Amino acid sequence: MKEETKTMYNYNYKNNYNKVVIIGLGQLGLPVAKYVKEHGFDTFGYDINQKTMQSAEANYGIKQATNFGDFDVLIICVSTHRPDDMFTPQVDGLMSVVEKISREAKAGALISIESTIPKGTSKRVFEKVDHRLHVVHAPHRWYALEEEVHGVNQLRIVGGVSNCCLQHGLNFYDGREVVPQTTETANDKLSETSLIDNSNTNATTNSNNHVHFQQQQSTNHGRVTIPSTTTSMARTTGLKTLSIPMHPVSSVEVAELTKIVENAHRYLQIAFAEELYLYCKSNSISFSELRESLNTKWNVEVLEPRDGIGGHCLPKDTKMFINSSNTIRSKILQAAVEIDEDYREYIQSREKKGSMGSVAITKDKKTQEVEPNQLLYSKKIN
Ligand SMILES: NC(=O)c1ccc[n+]([C@@H]2O[C@H](COP(=O)([O-])OP(=O)(O)OC[C@H]3O[C@@H](n4cnc5c(N)ncnc54)[C@H](O)[C@@H]3O)[C@@H](O)[C@H]2O)c1
Repeated sequence: MKEETKTMYNYNYKNNYNKVVIIGLGQLGLPVAKYVKEHGFDTFGYDINQKTMQSAEANYGIKQATNFGDFDVLIICVSTHRPDDMFTPQVDGLMSVVEKISREAKAGALISIESTIPKGTSKRVFEKVDHRLHVVHAPHRWYALEEEVHGVNQLRIVGGVSNCCLQHGLNFYDGREVVPQTTETANDKLSETSLIDNSNTNATTNSNNHVHFQQQQSTNHGRVTIPSTTTSMARTTGLKTLSIPMHPVSSVEVAELTKIVENAHRYLQIAFAEELYLYCKSNSISFSELRESLNTKWNVEVLEPRDGIGGHCLPKDTKMFINSSNTIRSKILQAAVEIDEDYREYIQSREKKGSMGSVAITKDKKTQEVEPNQLLYSKKIN
């Protein structure tokens, strides 16, 4: 183990974070930067788009960072789709930011990836910075249309690549730390949280009763210890914090998956509504009446299909999940992607032709007119 890494493991968790840079000041990054600034941090921004950076500085006082050398926390909010195709995931831009961070940032700083990322990305980042910095993933549930209730400050997930990373992340986001009464009870209580692998972690208390996890040469960064929100272990540090309620998870992959699966779940619900709509069209049933009728049941909530599943979140994140495993690839989601394509073709054709009953689809470069039922049931789902 490198000497500098050893030093890091003995790091005091009661870190006084002050200087924060938000990298990527788009739809998500700008509200994050404003929020961080409102919470008293010395707030900077960085964006490859100069106009975006200048606007954040002029309108919200977000100072421009040129170098990452002096920051305590680096929050990554860059886009994670291909520049020419917002439905296709791509983390090249994010990794180029990490490259710059790994060259310039100071040891012991915290990297928080708030962008939506494919499973395995946080560990790639961690390896790139060689654990000279802590790495957490704290994905967003930010929703532009309801920013008051579903903005930056809402219950969020956080996962750390290693134990100490998670501790630092929690300190920064919601001000918690692990404070057991004795070493023995620390280990007992920590194991009670059930998802824990303490095999390479020794918890000891220092004179202030704060836990130090002296992690030995770690071959398993997959699972870390979760400070419970409900036991006496969790206690506020009294340091500057974002005061965002966080739900810590035992591995960073769970944090990565939580974000992309929650969006995949939403995608599935919409695709079901789209399919039901096409079904109704081809069987001369009123969709709105059927939906209203279905939704009278206490555990049923069929959504309303609109323009197809768009935006740069749901399709991309669903693809991230479908591609997240080499062994099991979700068949139901692959079918949902096809259904959304069918639905889009249907509404586009309807708009073009003013027709309510037939659908134009392109197969082998030939456009054919088909009825919605043919479209739905003749396509083989691979
Ligand atoms: N917008 C949302 O509602 C929302 C919600 C949850 C999660 N997310 C996720 O947050 C991330 C960002 O989304 P967004 O909506 O803010 O995207 P956006 O396109 O609005 O903004 C991205 C910003 O990052 C900048 N950027 C891109 N590459 C960069 C680089 N290499 N270095 C510096 N800056 C760079 C761009 O110039 C842009 O200003 C995505 O992963 C997205 O999936 C977005």
